Amino acid sequence: MSMSTIISRFKSLYRRGLSVVAIGTVMLVLMGQSVAIAAPYAPGLAKAVAAIEELDQMRSTLAASLDGQSAAPTPETFKAVCKPVGMRAQQLSQENHWQVKQIATRYRNPAHAPDTVRSRLALAKFKQDANLQGLWENTTLNGQPGVRYYRRINVEVSCLACHGARDARPDFIKVNYPDDTAFDFNVGDLRGMYAVFIPNEVQQALQSSLEASPHDDSTPVF
Ligand code: HEC
Repeated sequence: MSMSTIISRFKSLYRRGLSVVAIGTVMLVLMGQSVAIAAPYAPGLAKAVAAIEELDQMRSTLAASLDGQSAAPTPETFKAVCKPVGMRAQQLSQENHWQVKQIATRYRNPAHAPDTVRSRLALAKFKQDANLQGLWENTTLNGQPGVRYYRRINVEVSCLACHGARDARPDFIKVNYPDDTAFDFNVGDLRGMYAVFIPNEVQQALQSSLEASPHDDSTPVF
């Protein structure tokens, strides 16, 4: 499939607003060299995809920094992995007027339980298809129409220090999360997903600000 076919397919999917649409190939378009091309059609979505890639990278880097530490990790260093990811998600929500969450079937923090039937469905799809990286859908959340973007989270070696065997979990986790079920994972397992809700209002405001710029995107460039 040529790049222009992929892009025009994305555009028509986006216009038709199919419910849950697998965007494995579209992810490449959004993340690769075509970000600028895709952006006018889905500015909020492209921005959310990029922000989530950064957020996920932040966790991987923090978790990997625990590996091979010469000094035994203190409770403070141990706390500095997934909590900051949650805090950054909140910050992204405020900055962009999005709702950015982490969601997991087996969660540690009850705030991360699946919140809608559709979010359960998205998790099931990720579980079923290990190659599926992202999904988005037109949906309504808390009475607001918008787009929700989901991105899978996989378990890496460095996650096992806290999400591996139940008994091997650090004490602060055993104490602070008595109902924890986010353990006994193996490398490559689906750990959960990020979910970004972009209200249509926010999407439209971004769209209008782009349309106000001198660049004419009324004619497709491919
Ligand atoms: C140092 C311990 C530690 C490590 C290492 C760690 N986590 Fe976590 N993880 C936690 C804690 C604690 C929470 C709950 C945070 C909160 O209260 O929001 C959590 C929560 C999460 C959540 C949110 C869903 C839930 O269960 O509440 C995801 C997703 C997650 N971790 C994925 C990962 C991934 C992926 C890695 C490896 C790249 C990883 N974690 C490494 C301690 C850790």
